[in-house]
Amino acid sequence: MIVQVVRTAAELREASARLLAERQGRSQGLVPTMGALHEGHARLARTAVEQNDVVVATIFVNPLQFGDAVDLDRYPRTLEADVALLEEQGVDLVFAPSVDEVYPGGEPLVRVTAGSLGEKWEGASRPGHFDGALTVVAKLLHYGIPGAGLPAAGAFATGARAGLPAYRAYFGQKDAQQLALVRRMVSDLNFPVEIVAVPTVRSAEGLALSSRNRFLSDQEREAALVLSRALRLLEDRANAHEPLDLDSAHALVASQPLVDLDYFDVVDPRTLEPLAENCRSVPFRGEGLALIAAKVGPVRLIDNVPLSS
Ligand code: PAF
Repeated sequence: MIVQVVRTAAELREASARLLAERQGRSQGLVPTMGALHEGHARLARTAVEQNDVVVATIFVNPLQFGDAVDLDRYPRTLEADVALLEEQGVDLVFAPSVDEVYPGGEPLVRVTAGSLGEKWEGASRPGHFDGALTVVAKLLHYGIPGAGLPAAGAFATGARAGLPAYRAYFGQKDAQQLALVRRMVSDLNFPVEIVAVPTVRSAEGLALSSRNRFLSDQEREAALVLSRALRLLEDRANAHEPLDLDSAHALVASQPLVDLDYFDVVDPRTLEPLAENCRSVPFRGEGLALIAAKVGPVRLIDNVPLSS
């Protein structure tokens, strides 16, 4: 199956409606990305292809979520390779709009705000990042609604969507805070979509795959492995119903001089509030999420692991 690349929302609506009609499709999956795709994205796309009759992937480097113009310029743009990777996974349509297509009047006046959940952890070092990310995710989720384009105003409330295809959107567990915020937005603002979380893909040594890994030198890449090792330590302790002893995991990270730690904590997976009592001297109980972020050389890396005991 040859993937079709579309540039405008109108083309996307037409092409997805046609595919759904041809296949008598009952479901559509959306895989939002910023391109520079790797095996982690391939897994998102494959999961969507397994679960839906029609799959749309989006490639859009969203200026609203970059605080720094240099970072935005430096973000890798690899459209041809990205389209080839998506085609291999069986994606039907790639929506790769221009900035003008997504923001025709310039930056939008009205935006989604991530609230207090967007101000902690990643949000603390990247002010405004999650507002920008959620604003574009809201738009992308609307572009991808299956069934002949956007429904008439009020259609959700009146139940007029009954009989329309199921709609799912796929996000990586790797960006745990983004995932928590997208889930919260969809629930708080009644978006008609099911959010599916897809587990993090790692290199054989354990490094979480990221578009930023390409900027690591060999030495930095080796040093970065301490992040996943520290997370694994906590995961093993949680699985063994032992105290997490977060301090010793911190000491492991501190032993690596090329790693400049930003944060490393265990939090509630939904609220992202620290679970302080649960991670020191008593055996871990319940559900948690260990979050870590650090600069390794010039590259900021994040990783996380869900904990359950
Ligand atoms: O995770 C990403 O790649 C981006 O934040 C997303 C969800 C595509 C929004 O630009």
